[in-house]
Amino acid sequence: MEKLGNLLEAAADRQSPRLTDGPGKKPLPPWETANKDPEFGRALDIVRQYAAFFEDMKARNIGLMLEGPFGVGKTWLLKHLASYLDNQALYFQAGTLLSQIRDSFSWDPQERRSFMDRLACKPLLILDDLGSEHQTDWAGAELGRIIDERYSRRKPLAISINRLDLLDNYQVRVIDRLSEVCIPVNMERCPNWRHQLRSAKREAFHAITGLEV
Ligand SMILES: Nc1ncnc2c1ncn2[C@@H]1O[C@H](COP(=O)(O)OP(=O)(O)OP(=O)(O)O)[C@@H](O)[C@H]1O
Ligand SMILES: [Mg+2]
Repeated sequence: MEKLGNLLEAAADRQSPRLTDGPGKKPLPPWETANKDPEFGRALDIVRQYAAFFEDMKARNIGLMLEGPFGVGKTWLLKHLASYLDNQALYFQAGTLLSQIRDSFSWDPQERRSFMDRLACKPLLILDDLGSEHQTDWAGAELGRIIDERYSRRKPLAISINRLDLLDNYQVRVIDRLSEVCIPVNMERCPNWRHQLRSAKREAFHAITGLEV
């Protein structure tokens, strides 16, 4: 009887929907968005595939580098990636991380060490807006050291950068190194999504007040 139960269970298992939707394929993260722009769609596809295949990306030390102007959705993509990967990833706005590193010098040494270890060892470190922070002080050097350490430990990073031409020499060197291990996601031609949001707000204001703004 128990054997029959096992057989039935195994048969039900075979019929249950598979997690994969084809050989070697993994389900993509369900990130719905009203932004149907094809250029943004390309970037979205890359980041979703990266998330779905993160175990393979991790094993091969493959990172991501999102590059593009203001408002195109870089932060939106990186935050979705962080939340999908959950405790496999650490997300920081680069400037905020620098302040935390600066603050950490006054913490309990053990607490500081565990914070720095997490930065070096997390499967994925996500640094948003790299290059927007000021790299001139020792906290900046510390950030460079974390990036170097992950590089030598073969641990990937996912970063976003805005304008390469605004970076100083030190930042250019760091980003040049990262470009060797990160898949480039060029968002240069994506529309500024903030413009869409602004129009929607203006229309809503008009609908409420009757005033054109
Ligand atoms: N795909 C999307 N769906 C819905 N909202 C989005 C999407 N992409 C971006 N947004 C919204 O548009 C605004 C700008 O996006 P985001 O902050 O991600 O741009 P960014 O490229 O990081 O800009 P910046 O270079 O200024 O940091 C935000 O309010 C964000 O929530
Ligand atoms: Mg951003």
